[in-house]
Amino acid sequence: MSDQREQDTKRRFQSGENYREGSGNLKAREGIFSYRRPQVDMPGMVIDRIGAEPKRILDVGCGSGRYLSRLREAFPGAEVIGVDLSPGMLDALPKPTVLADVCDLPFESGSADAVLAMHMLYHVPDLQTALDELERVLAPGGTLFTSTLASDDRPEYAALWRQATREALGAESEGPYRVVLDHFSQETAQAMLSERFASVRLHDLPGVIELPEPGPLVAAFRSTASFVDMEPGDFERVMAHIEADLERHFATEDLFRMTVHTGILECRDPRR
Ligand SMILES: C[S@@+](CC[C@H](N)C(=O)[O-])C[C@H]1O[C@@H](n2cnc3c(N)ncnc32)[C@H](O)[C@@H]1O
Repeated sequence: MSDQREQDTKRRFQSGENYREGSGNLKAREGIFSYRRPQVDMPGMVIDRIGAEPKRILDVGCGSGRYLSRLREAFPGAEVIGVDLSPGMLDALPKPTVLADVCDLPFESGSADAVLAMHMLYHVPDLQTALDELERVLAPGGTLFTSTLASDDRPEYAALWRQATREALGAESEGPYRVVLDHFSQETAQAMLSERFASVRLHDLPGVIELPEPGPLVAAFRSTASFVDMEPGDFERVMAHIEADLERHFATEDLFRMTVHTGILECRDPRR
């Protein structure tokens, strides 16, 4: 990918554009995870690690609300607030929700017993300001949970995109996931958070996805259209090659296999 195209893809990835209309694109990307083995219950893992009787929990970048509903069920006495930059996301969610940027959280310092920032910090250009804010709103003794992708997440997915861009456009492009890994992978996250918190515990979640048909993967690629710096016609040509490559794959194989790798970072005891 040219430097300019990479910069433009990065800017789009961090603009919130892909989430403006609501949770459709996000749900398309999440669709492939119903085929993940082993299945992981990330909301359940977070719930098990929040201490007894929290008074306030913030889910920052709450998206389609898959943590919010579980948190509210598990902690009926707590105020569980969903925070997101995208009005389209919040429209569909039960209140309380707050429209806000992680870099400027409208909450008092030390007011939340648990703060979640799950699979969202890689969208944020100014990570240090975001981490300052997440740390600021955390109550003494509270826990920050973050999650992101490890640098060896889904190489097969990236390879399919590279091959299709080479075939369709004559030049290989890395695709939007490179932006995630360059900006805030599990490895970078661990290093950054260890500078801020005395205790950073990684719950490592490697796995495998075996798809029995191309549909969910094609939908996942399509959902990234607004991230990629590409003319709509070029995007369609790349998609046509992805569909043809997958059709060839399934002509001889029963499954399309991808290795997946994510994790949750549980952070306690801010150093400041
Ligand atoms: C990949 S989704 C993750 C949703 C949810 N946390 C999960 O793990 O299922 C990323 C979410 O972060 C939100 N987001 C992106 N940048 C943000 C920012 N600067 N402040 C708050 N939310 C943001 C997006 O609108 C989107 O809903």
